[in-house]
Amino acid sequence: MKTFYVTTPIYYVNSLPHLGHLYTMIVADAVARRKRQQGIETFFLTGTDEHGIAIERAAERNHRTPKEQADYVVGYYKKMTDAFGLDTAHGGYDIFMRTTAPFHYAGVSEFWRRMAKAKTPKGREALYKGHYEGWFCAACAAYKAEDEYAPPANAGEPPTCLIHETKLDRVSEESYFFRLSDYDEALLGLYESRPDFVQPEARRNEVRSFVRGGLQDLSVSRVNTSVRWGIPVPGDPQHTMYVWFEALTNYITAIGFGNEQQQRAVGFEKFWPALHLVGKDILRFHAVYWPAFLMAAGVEQPRAIVAHGMWVDPDGRKMSKTLGNTIELDLLNKYFSIDAIRYFCLREMVFGQDGRFGYEALIDRANSDLASGLGNLSSRTLTMIQRYCAGRVPSGNISEEARLSAKRAGVDSDAATISSVVEHARDEVIRHFDNFAFSRALEEAWAIVAHVDKMISEAKPWGLAKDESQKQTLGAVLYRAAEALRWLCVLLYPVMPNSTSGIYQQLGLIGDPSRLDPARLKWGELAEGTQIGEVQPLFPRIDKVRTMAQIIGERGGFGVDTTEVDVAPDSGAGSSPTVREGVQQASEDDAVKNESGDGPIDITDFAKVELRVGEVLTAERIPKADKLLLITVDIGEEKPRQILAGIAQYYEPEQLIGRKIVVVANLKPRKLRGYESQGMLLAASVGEEGKPVIATFAEDVPNGARLK
Ligand code: MSP
Repeated sequence: MKTFYVTTPIYYVNSLPHLGHLYTMIVADAVARRKRQQGIETFFLTGTDEHGIAIERAAERNHRTPKEQADYVVGYYKKMTDAFGLDTAHGGYDIFMRTTAPFHYAGVSEFWRRMAKAKTPKGREALYKGHYEGWFCAACAAYKAEDEYAPPANAGEPPTCLIHETKLDRVSEESYFFRLSDYDEALLGLYESRPDFVQPEARRNEVRSFVRGGLQDLSVSRVNTSVRWGIPVPGDPQHTMYVWFEALTNYITAIGFGNEQQQRAVGFEKFWPALHLVGKDILRFHAVYWPAFLMAAGVEQPRAIVAHGMWVDPDGRKMSKTLGNTIELDLLNKYFSIDAIRYFCLREMVFGQDGRFGYEALIDRANSDLASGLGNLSSRTLTMIQRYCAGRVPSGNISEEARLSAKRAGVDSDAATISSVVEHARDEVIRHFDNFAFSRALEEAWAIVAHVDKMISEAKPWGLAKDESQKQTLGAVLYRAAEALRWLCVLLYPVMPNSTSGIYQQLGLIGDPSRLDPARLKWGELAEGTQIGEVQPLFPRIDKVRTMAQIIGERGGFGVDTTEVDVAPDSGAGSSPTVREGVQQASEDDAVKNESGDGPIDITDFAKVELRVGEVLTAERIPKADKLLLITVDIGEEKPRQILAGIAQYYEPEQLIGRKIVVVANLKPRKLRGYESQGMLLAASVGEEGKPVIATFAEDVPNGARLK
């Protein structure tokens, strides 16, 4: 049976985790879920790196022992992985590795003993005792070369680490060295023979040029009078192993290298080699030191080392506790759903490059791609099946006799057209996903959403439903939409396990897509007659203004660009005193009222009003506002406008999608029910009750065309 092993770095326990740590776990979790969907037995490791001077110091600061410090932070990690659905109980990691586990001591000691016996490729001893003299950064747990620190401001003070901006320690003591300098050719040979060993390509080049620049031997121990909190060197307990040496080894001790316990529980031969997911900040340790250690110990190399970029702050600095610019997990967890965060992380960061995190960007994506995109597609499809087909998935077939009617309605009677679009997109999603190009993969998946949305808007099922002769056409359109949704659930499950399982169940399907391989999907396998489940919104729209105000109130800081956020206090429900329940018809609004209230106006007065043609892209109801619809309209600008219209009692949201309307484009934005309305649509006001009838065009007009 095929197996797969994926790891995140194991995290330091000197401080609590933040978005950066969560990110690697999310990526690993998505990769593991994709493998499990393929029926591959998968082992997913995450955990904590608990030894070393930085942890000793953090413990001291917190008046704890190092073990208490580790237990405290691990407790938080467990709570966090549970809250974010990343733990074993939620189908996430298989082991939460801790380097304080006794089996790890046993495994690492065996690894050291093997290295102590090893010869380098140039025939010398791999380990030797010497004297180390130099600068050490406790936060990086790394020795620093001259180009890696800033000289002190005042003579006599230590230099500072360029990454953490903290003072370095002077180390001058006896130490074991690993003869890394003898491994340059062997490493370059490895990168050459296995082009995928370090990914992405740019990182591979970086690693190669580092090795080509020449390697220095590496100090791999500290005397235990300077670092006590660690694993003693076998046979020489006055020395403590260098924390990176034993931390890297966790990847093999966790599955049984050098210890019986894990060997029995997991099995080294069964799962090794692993795919290591790491941030680019620790690439050198994984792509240079670790392979050299493995060569020395005679252990097979990892499957690959895949490095992602960093989440950075608005100044481009890596998010880190030491710099105090982190995105807190408690805050994320409080305001956003797990799936929205997972989607955002994978969609927003181009894998391998750095990404800027912003709460507003997260809200925008959640609202546009999830609430208005996938969520809207799912709820309108299911609602129409409920309403027009008595809640059962209709047949997707159009008989010979019904073809002409379908053609008249602009619906392709052959399902092959849509199925080939969806199949192609599926192949692209898989290809990009397997290349770690998650952002591209998700773009491809959303091409399916857009395609199906367009099909619905063009076919107008609400019109077909009124015409008995179009029964088959209506069925085919709704079947295709539902079948595409089923595919999306399977395709997107690794990224959004909760909501895709939710849609899957609403489609009336049993179980969830966790064991379905998207490559095996066949168009048409959604069974006609399937009774759909209760339709529930899965991606609630986030009230941006209110949520941002709350976040700013709690955090007051990072991730929030206050210049872009309007937090005026009129964002609460029912805050629209001047507009009758948001009914924005021409007769109601000040902007189009004749200033004097009577008499003819000048042409220049009329010219002040900018009227433009718009196309409705999305439309949805707003909770607790039975008169308002929230629509997004393309008026030929870079971004669609969001408009609130008081027409919910007269128009179904799905009726509006794809419709050409007239928008007053230069109206001052205003807030209604906490949503910003960036314009107004024109409608005639008919009869005593003022029923709105939306102004539209008999001929085709491009979006953005000006009305004069
Ligand atoms: N303990 C070592 C790793 C040992 S692995 C054998 C360590 N720990 S760490 O707590 O500093 O975590 C580093 C990892 O956390 C990064 O490689 C990355 O996976 C994740 N991230 C931490 N900050 C990050 C960002 N700002 N952005 C993205 N990921 C980041 O290094």
